[in-house]
Amino acid sequence: MDSKKYETEINGVKSLEKLNELEIRYLGRSGEINKLLSAIKDIPNEEKRDYGQKVNKLKLSINRLIDTKKREFQDKKFDKFFDKTLPGKTYPKGSLHIISYAIEEITEIYEKIGFIRVSYPEVDWEYGAFESLNMPSGHPARDDVETSFIDVPAHPKLGKMVLTPHTSNGQNREMKRVKTPPIRMINISKCYRPNWDATHTPMFHQFEGLCVDQGITIANLKGTLDYFAEKYFGEGTKTRLRPHHFQFTEPSFEVDITCIVCGGKGMGCKVCKSGWLELGGTGMVHPNVLKEGEIDPMKYTGWAFGFGVERVIMMKYGLDDIRNYYSGDIRFLEQF
Ligand code: FA5
Repeated sequence: MDSKKYETEINGVKSLEKLNELEIRYLGRSGEINKLLSAIKDIPNEEKRDYGQKVNKLKLSINRLIDTKKREFQDKKFDKFFDKTLPGKTYPKGSLHIISYAIEEITEIYEKIGFIRVSYPEVDWEYGAFESLNMPSGHPARDDVETSFIDVPAHPKLGKMVLTPHTSNGQNREMKRVKTPPIRMINISKCYRPNWDATHTPMFHQFEGLCVDQGITIANLKGTLDYFAEKYFGEGTKTRLRPHHFQFTEPSFEVDITCIVCGGKGMGCKVCKSGWLELGGTGMVHPNVLKEGEIDPMKYTGWAFGFGVERVIMMKYGLDDIRNYYSGDIRFLEQF
């Protein structure tokens, strides 16, 4: 059992293929080591133990020699093509989703003029979504905001649990949080309504502005809307207010901006037809809403607005189907 013979042979091998052949010859099922092990039956009993130990020791040392040699070959192979100075492979990186990106942009625009970004619950009680907003139970205005209810026992005072249909539920919470105006809130969160078409999804995002202080007027509202329109949609974008009705603002308006595609000309524009595009709802906070937020309506006035994040993105980039935002289609998302 001359281990030297094996050592010389293994060390003298010039290729990995030859080494593999040697491995089979020594350690394979019908290899030399197994033959030596089978020969144990012809060994006198008193020598069997010693003999077995020697064969196993030999097997172990062959194994080690082969492993070391294999590693040598592999290192050499690696050296041939591996240039350590080459830059590593770059893998595709993810990026912010268009909605997250828009939320960052909107937040930054409002924070620059002193608004505080908050994010109020997406699951709330009827009180936050309706009662605190001057929409008592049974009021027909509630039907305008289609709502999904959660199947849990109702709260004795706050009513049923709902998936918030709008971010206006943040108004009462912010008034009670700040207590004494000035209040400058920008509440951005998910909202839920049972709609599904090119401009509506069951889950969407709104951003809600709320400004309450002494002497706040529609002029402040208009100035802030113009500021946002210019910053988000680009210089020269104008806004206009159209009379409307919301239960929680008085007076109430719909806000339009000049069409991004035709620049407000209207004539022949396929996107707007009138020169204006509808942005969302706004108005002066109703005195009942201020009272419910424990703010004195004789001392303070305020305004609020609620716009769809998906909608402003659509308007900015001229997109025609908001369902694409949630399709997970990389080809669509990579454009932004
Ligand atoms: C409201 O939700 C009011 N709370 C807005 C408001 C706030 C008015 C404060 C006055 C003061 P409205 O239902 O119009 O209003 O919704 C506002 C915007 O949310 C819409 O213009 C639209 O852009 C977006 N929106 C509404 N439903 C969906 C939907 N299912 N999918 C995507 N966007 C939607």
